[in-house]
Amino acid sequence: MFIDTHCHLDDPKLCGRVDEVIENYISAGVGRVINIGCSAETSALVAKQAEMYESVFFAAGVHPSDCEKYCDEEEKAIFRLADKEKCVAIGEIGLDYYWKPFDKQKQSECFERQIYLASEKDLPVCVHVRDAMGDAISILKSMRSELKRGGVMHCYSGSRESAAILLDLGMYISFGGPLTFKNARNLPEVAEYVPLDRLLTETDSPYLAPEGKRGTVNEPANVVTVAEALAKIKKISVEELASAVIANAGRLFYKLK
Ligand code: NI
Repeated sequence: MFIDTHCHLDDPKLCGRVDEVIENYISAGVGRVINIGCSAETSALVAKQAEMYESVFFAAGVHPSDCEKYCDEEEKAIFRLADKEKCVAIGEIGLDYYWKPFDKQKQSECFERQIYLASEKDLPVCVHVRDAMGDAISILKSMRSELKRGGVMHCYSGSRESAAILLDLGMYISFGGPLTFKNARNLPEVAEYVPLDRLLTETDSPYLAPEGKRGTVNEPANVVTVAEALAKIKKISVEELASAVIANAGRLFYKLK
């Protein structure tokens, strides 16, 4: 069995045909998906989908690119969603200095407040970082004591050196479609470096479809392609890789059933 630890089934590209998307991943052997919120509004949507479908779990949080409007009201909404039975993490949260304009101060504040929230709710965090690894590592380091349940670096694209620091901080490292790209750069090398008991698989659907499907709408079923690539890198069978990832996901996202 496989798991997609990061997808967005509420996205307009997928939400109109969720039944079909779920049928596709179930027949591909994907037993569980974690549906990720990016704002109070989308977190409520992914929570609703999790209520409707047995194989769907969710994370609630405000994405750095959506944090301009972050306020007490929005935080309260995330806070309430975090109590739901199928909420397995706070996320996605983090820093993104790619999409301009951005407000570094506001992003850090939003990231930190949600780490406190995760700590209070005894949940792991799902971290998004783009072009901001140095600052993200500083925040995670300084808030280490709040990261009681750890977290995952979603769709990891950083260096081996950064991965070493993050692993030391107790973080899991998740790989998605970019690992399979022809121009995957250092990613296979980083994946080889990450211990098998700290690896996760994801798709970030509907974005980042793997090699061979690039440019198409990504779906959780494609997480199998990511798992196959990781198995090859780790020189183990896909079954072995998949069962290690399932065990890792169960440990980190302890509310998963
Ligand atoms: Ni995402």
